[in-house]
Amino acid sequence: MAERQLELKGPDFAEGIDVSPLADGTSLLGHVGDASVLLARHREELFAVGATCTHYGGPLAEGLVVGDTVRCPWHHACFSLRTGAPLRPPALNPIDCWRVERRGTRIYVREKQAPPHPPKLELRAPGSIVIVGSGAAGNCAAETLRTEGYTGSIVMVSTDPSVPYDRPNLSKDYLAGSAPEEWIPLRSEEFYREHGIELRLGARAIAVQPATREVELEKGGRLTYDALLLATGAEPLRLNLPGADQGHVHYLRSLSDSRAIIKAAGTARRAVVIGASFIGLEVAAALRSRNLEVHVVAPDAVPMERVLGREIGGLVRRIHEDHGVHFHLGTTATSIDASAVELKTGAKIAADLVVIGVGVRPNLHLAEKAGLAIDRGIAVNEFLETNVPGIFAAGDLARWPDPHSGEKIRVEHWVVAERQGQTAARNMIGRRERFDAVPFFWSMHYDVSILYVGHAEKWDEVQIDGRVEAKDCRVDYRKAGRTVAVATIGRDLDCLHAELELERRSI
Ligand SMILES: Cc1cc2nc3c(=O)[nH]c(=O)nc-3n(C[C@H](O)[C@H](O)[C@H](O)COP(=O)(O)OP(=O)(O)OC[C@H]3O[C@@H](n4cnc5c(N)ncnc54)[C@H](O)[C@@H]3O)c2cc1C
Ligand code: FES
Repeated sequence: MAERQLELKGPDFAEGIDVSPLADGTSLLGHVGDASVLLARHREELFAVGATCTHYGGPLAEGLVVGDTVRCPWHHACFSLRTGAPLRPPALNPIDCWRVERRGTRIYVREKQAPPHPPKLELRAPGSIVIVGSGAAGNCAAETLRTEGYTGSIVMVSTDPSVPYDRPNLSKDYLAGSAPEEWIPLRSEEFYREHGIELRLGARAIAVQPATREVELEKGGRLTYDALLLATGAEPLRLNLPGADQGHVHYLRSLSDSRAIIKAAGTARRAVVIGASFIGLEVAAALRSRNLEVHVVAPDAVPMERVLGREIGGLVRRIHEDHGVHFHLGTTATSIDASAVELKTGAKIAADLVVIGVGVRPNLHLAEKAGLAIDRGIAVNEFLETNVPGIFAAGDLARWPDPHSGEKIRVEHWVVAERQGQTAARNMIGRRERFDAVPFFWSMHYDVSILYVGHAEKWDEVQIDGRVEAKDCRVDYRKAGRTVAVATIGRDLDCLHAELELERRSI
């Protein structure tokens, strides 16, 4: 995505400022020349870094300084203040760093520093790594292997014919028509060539043979590996409804799915979205931006209640209604014909476009066939390794022991998949790094962004600070007297603090 340029604010750091008022763990926005610069303090050290997040351009000055890192308020990317390195996705690119010179209590920000070279690999590495799946987890794993200095062969195989792309955008700005096509790829083909990552796109892996360490491809050929990452994600649940196989009925997982919906929206006038899931409602919002009449059909009494609770779910409903979406809740679709969707209530809703978003199922076929341990997902240990040494799994399909809840969990979040890809990559080259990130996701409904940290499949109590209705709140989901997850609206910094609280309370 293109970087957002911040309007220059605050002092000119090149002219020097008195830093005594800048407390430990805080930052100050200013500029050097025409660049927005963040000056941050960690104990006695001062750092000057680019003020704009390299993911979607979030304002780092509104984020959180934690030790010698800064976290972005929008989607929780984390950067090193020392090197600018993107330590945690969703940002994949570094921020700039400047040299800081201190003279007494005054500091001056001097020239921009060259980015550091990747470290030389000291640990024994496997000769060849195969990654199956080029989504969030697969792509991050491949990139991490190179930034960690791994020099062996990397082959990434994917059924998707496109270079890895920004999947969350497919139901948001891209579908709404406000994000151009060039924002969608995460990297160019050239990037993979330059980094020696061989892409096998449009290729399906059909079997893994742990005994001979081979991956079999559908179109013929085998890939041998010393370490393997399974990152095949999930696929939409299909509805077994009469008429669901017609051309105007769509699901949304891939770029080609999103393109197909955009094409259909060009001539359609009325859409029915089946399912009030995150994706279903984001699709509803995008189709309203394209001026279609939109109806949402779902069995729930309140959209998203199972994940976000009654209060935020109710707000989400009202936000969509204010934008003209019609809800048909507490019912299901029973059939689809060329011009309408019939409901269990007997009602018929006219529709020349139908999008089904009723959840996903992890792609476990390869793992099951290879005899890997399965537990409603691929079972992995804290290092994201399966029960077969050398085979790792990451992303939507992995169930891992979460140190924060003490439970084995599987989640379907972009940032979690990317961070798991990173950890799995490091462990494939012999580091023993525990995956201990607190789960995070975000969802956009028009101009309202909902941020969520932690994991709560169930909770006993909801504690609300602020006013949900005013889109200004922190909602704590509490179980056995402890906060296990937090959702915020209009309070991005609170969400970063909540993430830190949950991290520090790992059991
Ligand atoms: C439209 C949409 C919007 C979303 N929005 C958000 C959001 O706002 N916030 C959020 O946190 N999460 C969001 N998500 C969820 C998020 O995208 C997923 O959690 C994330 O992509 C999971 O990453 P993954 O690497 O596990 O799987 P994926 O990204 O799905 O990648 C899996 C890859 O495996 C490939 N593959 C599958 N089977 C095979 C095979 N047999 N052989 C070879 N390749 C194979 C697929 O082609 C794909 O490239 C969204 C998802 C969708 C679909
Ligand atoms: S804009 Fe910073 S993490 Fe997304």
